[in-house]
Amino acid sequence: MLEDSLDLMKLKKQLQTLLEDKLDSELLDKLPSGYSIIGDIAIFRHINPELTEYKQDIGETVIYLDPQVNVVVEQFSTDSAYRKPQIIHLAGEKRTITKHKEYDTIFNIDVSRITFSPGNKGERGFLIDTIEDNEVIVDMFACIGNLSLPVLVNKPSIQCYGIEINKEAFNFLTRNIEENRVKNRYFPILGDNMNKTPKGVATRVLMGYFGIEETQFYKAQEAIEEKGWIHYHDLVERGNLEYTRKKLESLAKNVNLNIQIKKTRKVKKFSPRLIHVCFDIFVNN
Ligand SMILES: C[S@@+](CC[C@H](N)C(=O)[O-])C[C@H]1O[C@@H](n2cnc3c(N)ncnc32)[C@H](O)[C@@H]1O
Repeated sequence: MLEDSLDLMKLKKQLQTLLEDKLDSELLDKLPSGYSIIGDIAIFRHINPELTEYKQDIGETVIYLDPQVNVVVEQFSTDSAYRKPQIIHLAGEKRTITKHKEYDTIFNIDVSRITFSPGNKGERGFLIDTIEDNEVIVDMFACIGNLSLPVLVNKPSIQCYGIEINKEAFNFLTRNIEENRVKNRYFPILGDNMNKTPKGVATRVLMGYFGIEETQFYKAQEAIEEKGWIHYHDLVERGNLEYTRKKLESLAKNVNLNIQIKKTRKVKKFSPRLIHVCFDIFVNN
């Protein structure tokens, strides 16, 4: 993936060199400097609207430059509860389904229907390194196994209950569970975590979704058998961590939970204003 600053510079420069006969200098300056890759699909976000008529050229140039890429799309913001991305095709094969590999885990995914953030790779690594043998995870927002599946693939004694409300994401989840051969330890549950979260089974609960409700927080605590961890994700305004910490503490207080926020971790930069942060919360029932 073209993700470090050197590569980002390289992409913009390479695009500028290869498209200099087509674009004037003002437009050359507005060329994008990066994209993410899921499987063999390159995903641009927010290409400058002034470049609209050159998007296909940009896509074709990326396929020429990057041997890993067979499809190029542009993604717009995802704001529904089901988090379905808005995708337009720019170049290459006309498909949105691909097979993405990370931490020896295979993710079958349709990038036009389901969100998968390559920027959460560090968080997936953190979970693999942190979760201890024989733990039981409840992944309340499982999607296609984004956070929990790599843990099961890399740690053979761990079990997981993954709850997913979106049927399409759930179908990919069950397919990924089979393809990664963890069917005997990963128990997928189709439905709303408000009423499908198992009680008293977990040592660890993953809440990988922004803007959760009090009831969901309560369900997370109920999922923990005796004591354990809730990994709660949120978007935090730059320099305003204390505000989110207080919000979280009052959320817990409203449902009579005794929580201890032990650590906060930056997962990724979300936008110029917002940071994606994970709060590691210890719960003792
Ligand atoms: C943004 S994705 C996050 C996936 C993953 N946790 C991650 O951090 O990469 C959120 C997923 O939660 C699911 N979801 C949202 N509300 C839910 C609910 N009440 N019960 C179960 N799943 C839910 C959505 O369908 C979506 O697949």
